[in-house]
Amino acid sequence: MDMKDTAINVLKILEESPGPVSGERIAEQLGITRSAVWKQIRELRRLGYEISSSRAEGYRLEEKTNRLLPYEINKMLRTRVIGRQIRHFESTASTGWIAKKLAAETDPEKLHGMVIIAEEQTGGVGRLGRAWVSPAGGIWITILLKPKIPLDHLFMITMAGSVAIARAIRKEYGISALIKWPNDIFIGDKKIAGLLLELTAEADTVHYALLGIGIDANISLTDLSPPLKDILTSLQAEVGHEVDRVALLARVLREFELRYQQLEDGEYDSIIREWKSLSMTIDQRVVIKTINKTFAGEAIDIDAHGALIIRKDNGKVERVIAGDCFQ
Ligand code: BTN
Repeated sequence: MDMKDTAINVLKILEESPGPVSGERIAEQLGITRSAVWKQIRELRRLGYEISSSRAEGYRLEEKTNRLLPYEINKMLRTRVIGRQIRHFESTASTGWIAKKLAAETDPEKLHGMVIIAEEQTGGVGRLGRAWVSPAGGIWITILLKPKIPLDHLFMITMAGSVAIARAIRKEYGISALIKWPNDIFIGDKKIAGLLLELTAEADTVHYALLGIGIDANISLTDLSPPLKDILTSLQAEVGHEVDRVALLARVLREFELRYQQLEDGEYDSIIREWKSLSMTIDQRVVIKTINKTFAGEAIDIDAHGALIIRKDNGKVERVIAGDCFQ
């Protein structure tokens, strides 16, 4: 649902004008007919822009859209690569699925940094194949990457992403977001965001990596069903009003690009250090549930592969690569 150039040109005229602009003037300026102007106004309204019209004065932009449209994101984006290509969907099964389709059709090198956005997902996927509820109002994105990172450090992409989201939430709203291992973002004892890294490799080279990010931004908790209601929170609920999702997304992408660059430069220590400083898991007593066992202990560290280091109650130290962490 990307915006057509004519719609953007009409929008730009409305944005630049302090007062209402007549259809006739817009038509003249763009060299199109008045009915073509009307068609674009209708299209802009469909995209969520609030445009008033009066016969005497013309059109006036009252409110920008609250959708995550590439045109709006571009205005705020401070990155070189991440988010410089955007695909936006009103509704799709999963942004990860779209990313895989694109990567199969086009050389992933050319897609590096592309961000796929959905206003709503009908078949969102979470960690360990769980369903991810993704109603309108959240931020549901997949970042497509062609990593130039050694294989054994690839899982640090999620660490970079977690740090980026926690930092972005802190900077935008002054809320103390923390990271819960492996890659959940929490506010207090409630989850607000989750990340999911999917790698496609052949032999020892990574064809591409997909970093899926889900942030419960403008989600009303009362709309969620009971189990989710108790374990999730949203920015809207924490801040007390709807947030500017475009500003937050632009910030997340910028913070991510900075850390991703550190990864490509081999600066693993600074990411690990930042991750630890934002972690709510390190130094805590935890219960770990892996596919084949459950055990308790103290989380003492994380290593450069994203594995959690646990000192078990019997004194033995164990490395956990994947699983659930209860604390
Ligand atoms: C988790 O289980 O915590 C990870 C959730 C990741 C959800 C995001 S939303 C955008 C992307 N598309 C999906 O289907 N999943 C990821």
